[in-house]
Amino acid sequence: MTHRTPVTQPVTKRKLLVLHGPNLNLLGHREPDKYGSMTLAEINAALETLATERDAELRVIQSNHEGILIDALHEAMGWADGAIVNPGAYTHTSVALRDAVAAVDFPVIELHLSNIHAREAFRHASLIAPVCVGQICGLGWRSYTTALAAILDYLDDRADR
Ligand code: DQA
Repeated sequence: MTHRTPVTQPVTKRKLLVLHGPNLNLLGHREPDKYGSMTLAEINAALETLATERDAELRVIQSNHEGILIDALHEAMGWADGAIVNPGAYTHTSVALRDAVAAVDFPVIELHLSNIHAREAFRHASLIAPVCVGQICGLGWRSYTTALAAILDYLDDRADR
């Protein structure tokens, strides 16, 4: 089996927004049976390690406020090549956040630590996923690293075309 190597490497570092929504600042303490025991700082450190390996630069923002998450998406326009977003509970409620994801000029992958499809019925629907490249969920903290690798692969594939 042969592995396909990209013909060209990106000249500049990929720039990625990492957006954490409400209550994710409490990771490590909050319902560890559902969300695991890793803190947000530990997850961010794992993302930075992967970003360094893949020669990417991250802008990491956590907020409990819908408008701040929307502002972060707007402010990333002109800077970000892509984003990974865990919208927390706003996944299931926020038309405004969905509209912001649809409005920005870079691709977004939605992710969740837990498998939202295996939980309460109100978590099964995501208002955000239809305007994303895709959704990753249920892998615990590895949902984050999987999403980061996936958005970088997606951008590489797009650059190869
Ligand atoms: C979550 C799932 C959401 O339903 C919940 O409201 C969260 C966390 C997750 O990562 O599993 O806050 O986004």
